[in-house]
Amino acid sequence: MPPHPDIALPRLIAHRGLSAHAPENTLTAVRAAFDIGCHWVELDVQLLGDGTPVIWHDPTLKRCSDGHGRLSRLSLDEARGLDVGSWFGDAFRGERMATLADMLKLLASLDMGVNLELKVGRNRSGTELADAVVPRLLEALPPERIILSSFDMAALHHARSMADASRLPIGILTEGIPQKWQSRCEALDAFSVHTDWTRLTARRAREIKDTGYRLLCYTPNDPAAFAHHWRWGVDSAISDDPGCFAGIAPPPALP
Ligand code: G3P
Ligand code: MG
Repeated sequence: MPPHPDIALPRLIAHRGLSAHAPENTLTAVRAAFDIGCHWVELDVQLLGDGTPVIWHDPTLKRCSDGHGRLSRLSLDEARGLDVGSWFGDAFRGERMATLADMLKLLASLDMGVNLELKVGRNRSGTELADAVVPRLLEALPPERIILSSFDMAALHHARSMADASRLPIGILTEGIPQKWQSRCEALDAFSVHTDWTRLTARRAREIKDTGYRLLCYTPNDPAAFAHHWRWGVDSAISDDPGCFAGIAPPPALP
């Protein structure tokens, strides 16, 4: 297996774009992250009913759009007709759901990095999602600016097995870190472990770092409460509001 790309991972990654200040997983939320100097974002991707990959978190439309029902029932034309900004604030009225293609174009034009999460809903296929996403991702961005992650191990194994994906940086997503975290990482030749910051322990953090994996935490939004995690060796915080860490986060990680 070739070595991982040399990723200059930032301390702070904007979760679903700058989701504390703009509607999550939209082009506007990504531009907003860029505008505050946050050049990596975490985004969720899943498939519409017609197979188009789109940037969206929930299985349904209700929370983040003026529509209702399941995302998996929509065609691209129907998705394009939704307003995905007004729910967050009038200033965002008229925001459209981003396809993966739209989003990759923006990320490439801004030289941004992405932690793209394969969001595999119940009764949905992780392999189908990986098939639709991985080639487009690798074509749009260099591997130094990508981490592909998922809670769905089958999706990640399928991604790893795909053509040209041998150097794709893969992150294992967990809530609490399971006993078998290391064998799961080895089986995938993973680059990183991504965990719920409230469930990480100093001991697990040390194990992960001692074994050479990068360690990312979601979704801290309180820098004071998170401070000791930096001391445990956490590489990056995936935050809804990275700006609130200004002057509190540690200096950039050493190369
Ligand atoms: O990728 C980290 C985090 O986004 C995982 O949880 O539900 O916010 O996608 P969720
Ligand atoms: Mg996510």
